[in-house]
Amino acid sequence: WGPYGHAMVADIAQERLTPQAAAAVHQLLALEGHKSLDQVASWPDTMGHLPVGHGGHPETLKWHYVDTDVVNPAYVHERDCADSNCVVERLPEEIALLSNVHAAPAVRLEALKWVVHLVGDLHQPLHAAERDHDMGGNTIHLTYYGESAHGHMNLHALWDEGILNRQDHLVVGPHYSIDYSAAGAAAQQLSAQITPEQVRYWTQDLSAPGAPYRAVMDWVDESHELARSVAYGALPSQDHPDLGDTYTAVAWPIIQLRLEQAGVRLAGVLNQSLGQ
Ligand code: ADE
Ligand code: ZN
Ligand code: ZN
Repeated sequence: WGPYGHAMVADIAQERLTPQAAAAVHQLLALEGHKSLDQVASWPDTMGHLPVGHGGHPETLKWHYVDTDVVNPAYVHERDCADSNCVVERLPEEIALLSNVHAAPAVRLEALKWVVHLVGDLHQPLHAAERDHDMGGNTIHLTYYGESAHGHMNLHALWDEGILNRQDHLVVGPHYSIDYSAAGAAAQQLSAQITPEQVRYWTQDLSAPGAPYRAVMDWVDESHELARSVAYGALPSQDHPDLGDTYTAVAWPIIQLRLEQAGVRLAGVLNQSLGQ
């Protein structure tokens, strides 16, 4: 997701934390003067590209996604992530770090930032799929309502932020800066639609055997299936298509669902990791 999507996932989770988890989150965030999860949700996107020696960690660039070809039915570790540098293998590591009360607070804060970010990213369908080595749609160039967003519009960016920002009138400023109150209002609109039954259904994997690893795999497989059926499935077959109402009508409900699920599941992960 872009900065608004990540902030919205964090906001949906924040209000669903248990008192114990909220206190632990507050204490970790306070190490750097932050007050809420949305303030750190996009940090992993800002540091990956920095030069090494200036806080840059290029090895983390692959942690945000997994490229499982849409011709395959589901994620397979050896085939899709042999070096373990993908979201499915990294996220459980970061959850374990966050849960470790013996780890240094600064280490746990960094793990918290990764957990908030990666639970979000893995719910973006195109972070769990590729077709014809297109890097999750990054090489599929297109326009959206006739605009190319300064020549940079592609299928991946459309799902990360193009559709969301247009629907909710969200504007990204320089250096990823966002309007936090606009993100909070958009998150509140989604959060208010979530029923207790959905929360139970969406988080049941977290109390099943093999959690959190198996839960993460299941969520990634959901994304992969939505990429196949919707993100790619609804795409016209011509080169450089101009997408508009028809594509938005199928993509926007899925984007809202995935942001809601990511927020609810992030709260579940944090409540388990920090709740006692
Ligand atoms: N780079 C390569 N594949 C990617 C994907 N699926 N999502 C985001 N960035 C990528
Ligand atoms: Zn992305
Ligand atoms: Zn990311």
